[in-house]
Amino acid sequence: MILSIESSCDDSSIAITEIKTKKLMYHKKISQELEHSQYGGVVPELAARLHATALPKILEDVKKFFPHLKAIAVTNQPGLSVTLVEGVAMAQALSISLNLPIIAVNHLHGHIYSLFIEKETHFPQTILLVSGGHTQVIEANGFEDFKILASTMDDSFGESFDKVSKMLGLGYPGGPVVEKYSQTGDMDRFKFTIPLLHSPKIAFSYSGLKNQVRLQIEALGDLSEDDKSDVCASFQKTASAHLIQKLKKIFKTKQIKDFAIVGGASANLYLRGEIEKLCNVHGTKLHLAELKFCSDNAAMIGRYAIDAYHQGKFSKFDEITSSPKVTI
Ligand code: KG4
Ligand code: ZN
Repeated sequence: MILSIESSCDDSSIAITEIKTKKLMYHKKISQELEHSQYGGVVPELAARLHATALPKILEDVKKFFPHLKAIAVTNQPGLSVTLVEGVAMAQALSISLNLPIIAVNHLHGHIYSLFIEKETHFPQTILLVSGGHTQVIEANGFEDFKILASTMDDSFGESFDKVSKMLGLGYPGGPVVEKYSQTGDMDRFKFTIPLLHSPKIAFSYSGLKNQVRLQIEALGDLSEDDKSDVCASFQKTASAHLIQKLKKIFKTKQIKDFAIVGGASANLYLRGEIEKLCNVHGTKLHLAELKFCSDNAAMIGRYAIDAYHQGKFSKFDEITSSPKVTI
């Protein structure tokens, strides 16, 4: 079995995965959303302190698996450096005390492997990764064979939901609450401009849309609950339309048999619906991770580690530095 640890942002999570069957034997996650909500975003130093108590608490639970372990996997990049180091230090301590190799995992590779939890690996796929830190379209051809086709020039898709939520005083994380408000809102009330609509660039940008929303909120003054719902719905529609418009261009350049959405924001049902329509037009099969594995979790890190284990991809102890800004 492999013990995996995730602490790249505000979720402390540990999983145990059986190597031969890929079965998830144990998975637990302690989220810090409540603690950060009052600040409207993640406070890194607070997040690090919370990991320092949550991770050992979960570890207590998995002691019974220790005799069966063959490796320790840990997210080492990208993410918040002060929180990554909590998981990395725990992995190194376990590696020394249990005499096991370490598999350092890129968090983004983990999100891709959230598609394969308790399943066989399935490549090639074109993948939309939408999280709090990233918005990327990735051509995934195999283990460690990833090519970025498009990425954001500024804010990420998930981050823009967080910022809109903060502007409306709806708390953190913004994605789920903005989606909830959107459900009762009029998505056609405010006409926000789709970013980069007339640009030939296949890239994403969310900072301009965020500013359009800010100006609209300021123009409204005192907002009723209905106003908030309409702002959320109109924003969500435009943010998703931007993704779809650029994805249409990518779908025109190549035949895509298998398409997937991963990352925390892939839980958004409106976005899922729009992408489903696009895939139907092109006869493309849409793959989705289970809702509980869209946001950060150690199960996806463990699943990636199984393939790394089979490839003999172990990390040299002194090379596992936690690095905040690495991409795929
Ligand atoms: O993958 P994730 O858990 O963490 C990162 O790797 O960043 O993604 C978290 C992000 C947050 O920005 C959150 O607001 C967003 O995903 N998110 C959503 C939804 N659920 C989470 N965004 C839009 N709609 C949702 N339903
Ligand atoms: Zn993530």
